[in-house]
Amino acid sequence: PDRAQALPGGDITVGGTSLTGLAERFDTPGYVVDTATLRARCRAYRAALPDAEIAFAGKAFLCRRMAKLLAGEGLSLDVCSAGELATATSAGFPPGRIMLHGNAKPDHELRAALDAGVGRIVLDSPDEIDLLGALATRRQDVLIRVTPGIDGHTHRAVATGVEDQKFGFSLASGQAAEAVRRVRSKPLLNLVGLHCHLGSQITDVEVYERAVRALAGFLAEIAVRHGVTLPQLDLGGGHAVNFDLRGFGCRVKNVLAQECRKHGLAAPRLVVEPGRAIAARAGLTVYRVITVKRGVRTFVAVDGGFSDNPRPALYGARYAVRLLGRASSAPVAPATVVGRHCEAGDVLMRDAVLPGDIAAGDLLVVPCTGAYHHSMASTYNSVRRPPVIAIGDGEPELWIRRESAEDLMAREV
Ligand code: LLP
Repeated sequence: PDRAQALPGGDITVGGTSLTGLAERFDTPGYVVDTATLRARCRAYRAALPDAEIAFAGKAFLCRRMAKLLAGEGLSLDVCSAGELATATSAGFPPGRIMLHGNAKPDHELRAALDAGVGRIVLDSPDEIDLLGALATRRQDVLIRVTPGIDGHTHRAVATGVEDQKFGFSLASGQAAEAVRRVRSKPLLNLVGLHCHLGSQITDVEVYERAVRALAGFLAEIAVRHGVTLPQLDLGGGHAVNFDLRGFGCRVKNVLAQECRKHGLAAPRLVVEPGRAIAARAGLTVYRVITVKRGVRTFVAVDGGFSDNPRPALYGARYAVRLLGRASSAPVAPATVVGRHCEAGDVLMRDAVLPGDIAAGDLLVVPCTGAYHHSMASTYNSVRRPPVIAIGDGEPELWIRRESAEDLMAREV
């Protein structure tokens, strides 16, 4: 987080709150989120893209307090399930600023979105166009998700702009043009724009410029064929943690203006859907070391793991780790930090560097866990999911408590 500070004795504070103190008070493992960093990131987006709509991707991290914070910062919200929608609406998030996404939304989700009065539904398949056309009882704004055939150079599991994947309507094969015709044939569906999402952890702004060129060309085609100028262009999310936001803001705006001029189009309003770039750096995880095994390799086992951070196992994601709560003058030594789950793949960091005297009972802190950690946590091995503790201006606030054994059994009939 922006406000993290390492003290000489080994403690780390965030906005003046001691992480060691939080570990004592709330136990470990625990997720900590700095609301000042979250707010600063929301504001950085609004400053870099003053004319655009910023819709936070709820999949990165959502709970009711988060929805309230986002609403207060003037952001919109992208939800991708009825569950995320329910969280947002129950927090009082303005439904008109909610967008529903998903490549396979069941009937009940579309109905829930219509009932809630969500601002836009992003259509992803011909079946869905027909279904929503039949379910709608009043005019509903929609976007069409287009697959522009652009490679964001990301991990295969999160590459969504290329042709050969499950999302959207392909531009090259004419599916997108057919989707426009289909939507326009439904009296209650009001097509307000195009959407694309190119992948995740994209660092190269050029990838988005290419998408703008492709989609502006398609907007021009739609204008010629249907006589309408669509007012919105949603470039999705996918910005890496250290994304060049200002560069993105300028370059994308310029390319869009240029392309629209070329095609004689009025420039649509840009929408972006960052998740990770807003939430990741605001969060960190605190663990306690349970045991250290020294042999060919030093294994440092902590009280969490795969269930609170599946990203190393799923994507080969790499994390930093740091001793918390005491100063050590021992020379650093390589260590493998592992979790407490019953499988060998439960490795958090293969090549960590920690003080050589690391021992059971020590605390460890892992930064940059604010996005896709709590939201991807599981209860594997019936390990209870950690709490989320928010640091704001005053006392730390428990946003989500630790799961209990009763919670784990609550659904059993
Ligand atoms: N919009 C749409 C339509 C998306 O599918 C996504 C992410 C986003 C926005 C936000 O992307 P972001 O800015 O956060 O990269 N579980 C993976 C990430 C999957 C992202 C899927 N879609 C991970 O932990 O890296």
